[in-house]
Amino acid sequence: MGIQYFEKERIFKLDTKKTSYLIGIVDEEKFVCHIYYGKKLSGHRAEYLMRTAESPFLPSQNARDRQVVLDCLPMEYTSNGVGDYKESTISVRTKAGNVAVQPTFESYRIFQGKPKLEGLPATFGKEGECTTLEILCRDAVLNLEVLLRYSVFEDVDAIIRSVEITNKGEELLLTRALSACLDMDNRDFEMITLHGGWARERHMQRKPVGYGRQSVLSRRGETSHQDQPFMALVTPGTNQEMGEVYGFHLVYSGNFLVQTEVNQFDICRTVIGISPEDFGWKLETGEKFVTPEAVLVYSGEGLGQMTRTFHNLYRRHLIRGEYRNKKRPILINNWEATYFNFNTEKLLDIAREASALGIEMLVMDDGWFGNRCDDNRALGDWQVNEEKIQGGLANLVEKVNQMGMKFGIWFEPEMISPDSNLYRQHPDWAIAVPGRTPALGRNQYVLDLTRKEVRDYVYQCVADVLHSANIEYVKWDMNRQLTDIGSAQLPPERMGEFYHRYVLAVYEMQERLIQEFPHLLLENCSGGGARFDPGMLYYSPQIWCSDDIDPVERLVIHEGTAMIYPLSAMGAHVADCPNHTVGRTTPFETRGYVALAGTFGYELDVTKISEEERAQIPGQVAMYHKYNDLVREGDYYRIASYRENHYFDCWEVVSEDKKEALVTFIQVLSRPNVHSRCLKLQGLDASKKYRVEETGEVFDGDALMYGGILIPAIYADFQGRLIHLIQVEE
Ligand code: GLA
Repeated sequence: MGIQYFEKERIFKLDTKKTSYLIGIVDEEKFVCHIYYGKKLSGHRAEYLMRTAESPFLPSQNARDRQVVLDCLPMEYTSNGVGDYKESTISVRTKAGNVAVQPTFESYRIFQGKPKLEGLPATFGKEGECTTLEILCRDAVLNLEVLLRYSVFEDVDAIIRSVEITNKGEELLLTRALSACLDMDNRDFEMITLHGGWARERHMQRKPVGYGRQSVLSRRGETSHQDQPFMALVTPGTNQEMGEVYGFHLVYSGNFLVQTEVNQFDICRTVIGISPEDFGWKLETGEKFVTPEAVLVYSGEGLGQMTRTFHNLYRRHLIRGEYRNKKRPILINNWEATYFNFNTEKLLDIAREASALGIEMLVMDDGWFGNRCDDNRALGDWQVNEEKIQGGLANLVEKVNQMGMKFGIWFEPEMISPDSNLYRQHPDWAIAVPGRTPALGRNQYVLDLTRKEVRDYVYQCVADVLHSANIEYVKWDMNRQLTDIGSAQLPPERMGEFYHRYVLAVYEMQERLIQEFPHLLLENCSGGGARFDPGMLYYSPQIWCSDDIDPVERLVIHEGTAMIYPLSAMGAHVADCPNHTVGRTTPFETRGYVALAGTFGYELDVTKISEEERAQIPGQVAMYHKYNDLVREGDYYRIASYRENHYFDCWEVVSEDKKEALVTFIQVLSRPNVHSRCLKLQGLDASKKYRVEETGEVFDGDALMYGGILIPAIYADFQGRLIHLIQVEE
């Protein structure tokens, strides 16, 4: 287990419970090459896989073929401009205008645990949980150090990579600095990625990998609704339970690139990291650049195993804070209940009704500050609007607390409305290119958080509000993407640093927030789920999934999201009908079943819904309390996909000890001539029996998995069933 170095063969072997990763130091020039990543190997002698004895031979054997050899040697981190024509992970521009870089091996270090990444979110693990390998490489001409870092989480089967680039030579511009590269033989891979738009985030797409470059990326300044910094390469025929899967995910919240490419030698190179588009980081002598972390997960047992590895890694080694292993309070959010039209009295009406039904926290959404009566104004003016919040915030919170409820609040700290006191005082605080009128997005500009005084000011506004009352939850929103990149303060030669500096600024502010308010429950949000990424998870244990709360839409969003994120992180609510985004009417009960797969809460005017619906809330509250430990901490299995079959969806969570399982079945559309549905469960103990709590029937675990469970036919659309299985000794 862990990491070993075999000096004679110059091979590093990184092992987790089920996987091995081999790195070789090759030739006199000491190229750091990739040998193998996949199912666990007993030994380390797999260097033949690099084919260094085949033509085109290594430089030491045929110096003239250097160009070709670099194009086909499988590399751990690439060179640039010296013969490898595939995508580079690093590139520079020297003072003389040259772009060539070629880092080669110098030394290494292996140690227990893993270091923090300064200013960046990062997975964490103590001695005994993870081991780290650092390979120091150097470009001798530039005197540029490239430190490749690999941390192996043995218990969860994941490998984390990041890179530190230190300039020991003359000042230069780093024009690309990706986090990881993986070169493999192409095995007819297919790629799975997550795409979308506002209100339909993280829809899965699967397609064959062909020759040339295929990528997903963001250049929007945040991860975005449109693409996720994730890709899985799978062998043909891979399903939930079978097939080989290589998953790549970036722990980052800004512009990214995940790209795979097949070249003339049928090598498939996958790279992941900060997008090189519009990127340039000035490195003076002695300065260092640290890349975000890339997570690599291999599964030889299909997509389901990859999913559970990501869940375990993020739950155990990324999410922090008091709430990471705790049930979250059931909240009621007033956004879709009132939009901007509320006051103290209205909020108290909602709270009164909600608390009587068992709801545990009131969240006051957008519209409580400045003269924010619509989305045209007031972002930046973080002073309580006492015309709406009559009696002040402390009074409102106190009254809500007296009802036995917690209180939460919405902020959008990164933004500034042109119609705001803040903008009138500091027009230069908005991101803009001198001489150009910046584009508005939702009628607002973005604050130039790369300026310390700007982020300090807005942070202090948020902190002052939080200190003024007993506020136990914050929804941190970000409702537009970046354009017109320009800063009144960054020097011209550092303007290429803007996007990354912006992300670092958000991280700095959120770190400050959770340090100053350690008991706060933070939920990130971005016009729904545009910043649902592992970077944000380091600061907030939950993220709002989507502004689309329709349960049918959510099935597809939750399927894509849960492929890589634990259910404990997925912000999910029960909303009113007809649904505000798609106009669909669905049963209240079904809305509850779908929200149960996430953090659970309500987003409706509980004083206005029908008596029949209101009467269901205490039952849903009890259902949440009964199942949330299992949902949050259990192993997740995808049983059926509505996206694929167009009729029904089914997922299952099984407790780690396999003593209990919860199956959620949602029939979207009823279908004629169908009797009961037979669904093969997964993850149970094949040698044990399980009782269905709802019916009392007892089944063998193996029969439920290899034969299936029968879900009686339902003659209606949009219906749900919960099946609770309890292991019995018989
Ligand atoms: C975004 C969020 C919503 C709500 C509004 C408020 O769209 O995703 O939940 O908070 O902003 O303006």
